[in-house]
Amino acid sequence: MHCTLLGIPVQSGTGRRGCDMGPDGLRAAGLTEAIESLGHTVSDAGNLEPAPLRPVSHPNSVLKALPETVAWLDALSEKAYALASEGMPVFLGGDHIMAAGTVSGVARHANDVGRPQFVLWLDAHPDFHTLNSTTSGNLHGTPAAYFTGQDSFEDIYPKLHAAVSPENVCMIGIRSVDPPERILLREAGVTVHDMRAIDENGIAVLLSAFLEKVAAANGMLHVSLDVDFLDPSIAPGVGTTVPGGATFREAHLAMEMLHDSGLVTSLDLVELNPFLDERGKTALLLTDLTASLLGRQVMDRPTRSFG
Ligand code: ARG
Ligand code: MN
Ligand code: MN
Ligand code: MN
Repeated sequence: MHCTLLGIPVQSGTGRRGCDMGPDGLRAAGLTEAIESLGHTVSDAGNLEPAPLRPVSHPNSVLKALPETVAWLDALSEKAYALASEGMPVFLGGDHIMAAGTVSGVARHANDVGRPQFVLWLDAHPDFHTLNSTTSGNLHGTPAAYFTGQDSFEDIYPKLHAAVSPENVCMIGIRSVDPPERILLREAGVTVHDMRAIDENGIAVLLSAFLEKVAAANGMLHVSLDVDFLDPSIAPGVGTTVPGGATFREAHLAMEMLHDSGLVTSLDLVELNPFLDERGKTALLLTDLTASLLGRQVMDRPTRSFG
């Protein structure tokens, strides 16, 4: 398989500085070499630059850095669309607002080829605010609402060519949900597995059910991995830590199962903040998790199939 790395040094969606160093942190951690060691080819497309600013405004006065953020999304949604037709894009963040660009781009490609787009959202947060509902104003809290076609984004975020059906979105690891998000998620019909669901069922059961669904629909699968999905004890390099996250083994198992499924068509690695990391610990963990997703395994094992 061929992987294309694209750095997206966006940090305007978060309240903290340092995510702009995320792509280089992942490069320094040896991401290219780790993927190549599995027999894949890698090209690094370098870092994206934002499009020119265009005038945008919205009545919610708490929104932070709206024009700057939209400029990133304008560039990214087009670039992601272009990359989706050639091998597997791996998008290196950057804060999670970038998923508004990556998912809208890959979903547009899926729509072109007549396949449904699915999204696995691995995160402490659902990031399901609309421009009306956010009270922090941090736009990294909005991408999943945008790419599933919720309202408030029209004529501000890039035109959505193909919304992802909310029923095709599965969120795992969730443990910090704002009250408006909770209502919107329920109304939209997104599958949300909180940490309690992982504790009670095990992550394998939850993930298998979703992978069966993707396989049965011959879907394209985008995985959006937010560093804060992981427990802060193993992944401190992120601005929005929430206690009680996925363990090292749960995260690797999820990645190994994703590899075995053969279903993943694109990947986001987001919210890495090297300024907050401890001697590259989080960047190295993300690199190892990506390797598991792309086929690293301890021993050979029989292939498991879904669908
Ligand atoms: N729900 C909170 C907010 O909207 C936190 C969002 C955190 N999102 C993230 N991608 N880290 O401000
Ligand atoms: Mn997130
Ligand atoms: Mn998060
Ligand atoms: Mn492989």
